[in-house]
Amino acid sequence: MTKQDAVESADARPALLLAWYDRHRRRLPWRPPAGERADPYRVWLSEIMLQQTGVKTVGPYFEKFLARWPDVASLGRASLDDVLRMWAGLGYYSRARNLHACAVAVLRDHGGLFPDTEEGLRSLPGIGPYTASAIAAIAFDIRTMPVDGNIERVVSRLYAVEDPLPQAKPKIQQLAATLLADCRAGDSAQALMDLGSSVCTPKKPACALCPLNEGCAARMRGDAETFPRKAPKKSGTLRRGAAFIVTRGDELLVRSRPEKGLLGGMTEVPGSDWLAAQDDKAALKQAPALNGIARWHRKAGVVTHVFTHFPLELVIYTAKVPARTRAPDDMRWVPIATLDSEALPNVMRKAIAHGLGE
Ligand code: ADE
Repeated sequence: MTKQDAVESADARPALLLAWYDRHRRRLPWRPPAGERADPYRVWLSEIMLQQTGVKTVGPYFEKFLARWPDVASLGRASLDDVLRMWAGLGYYSRARNLHACAVAVLRDHGGLFPDTEEGLRSLPGIGPYTASAIAAIAFDIRTMPVDGNIERVVSRLYAVEDPLPQAKPKIQQLAATLLADCRAGDSAQALMDLGSSVCTPKKPACALCPLNEGCAARMRGDAETFPRKAPKKSGTLRRGAAFIVTRGDELLVRSRPEKGLLGGMTEVPGSDWLAAQDDKAALKQAPALNGIARWHRKAGVVTHVFTHFPLELVIYTAKVPARTRAPDDMRWVPIATLDSEALPNVMRKAIAHGLGE
């Protein structure tokens, strides 16, 4: 290829990408039919859910939220408890608190309309630079490129970016912006997302099907799969703790977590602190008092869960207490049959299933 050809093919990329998108775009519940304007509320709701969760998992949650709260005004008037309950199972619960706070702010400070600039969007709870860029591009066609993991992969291959992530992010951001069409910025971004998820996949990319294959530097070198380069990963230190599964007939003893911090405000069974140097005796000392009547049985095995910053290992103790045993002050009894309607995070669902299992 001559230098002139290379320049021309780089110029043609935004149009090639959009032509590919028009034929192969994924049908996703938050996307309007081709050519129709996206609803900022749906775009925002989907982008918050997609922040740390995959498209497949988000689909049903998005539909459930939309059926219950069809617009930002109805969500802004909902109770935080109802929003958290509906969010249960999606994880990263600060997103649900921010979602609610954001709906309230849009209603109170912006007359029920989302701001149509990146800066305005960023001033809202739960909206960082990536999400502001995604909403601005998809809902308002502002020429900005939100770079997610899929786009990082596509772009790092297209330009064979040798710097490892995360240091390479600013460079990739700049290169990705060259793929924006003059209008239809949102479609340019979503085209790259879709290309990354269906063609330019982490393993065995289908380069023959790629609209950008002609000028792809990594493909020409034959090592597309090795991009993006990554710095070695550090994972958090294992923390350990105990969870106490106390039953009173067909009821379970639960409490609410503090409003601030990890899983803030969610429901949990009583438990010990989660510490790197937790010993089982110290953990058992943190069991709920219950007037000394509980006889604790340690279940065989452990429950494991991986949070963003650390993995957790819980030992499970069970106790059965007589009818009419009072719950400690900050705890309550809930029927096991209605646990599904509690805002229970996944780690607690696992602990309860383990504790109540045979
Ligand atoms: N991930 C984040 N935003 C997305 C979108 N709009 N479409 C597909 N995947 C996404």
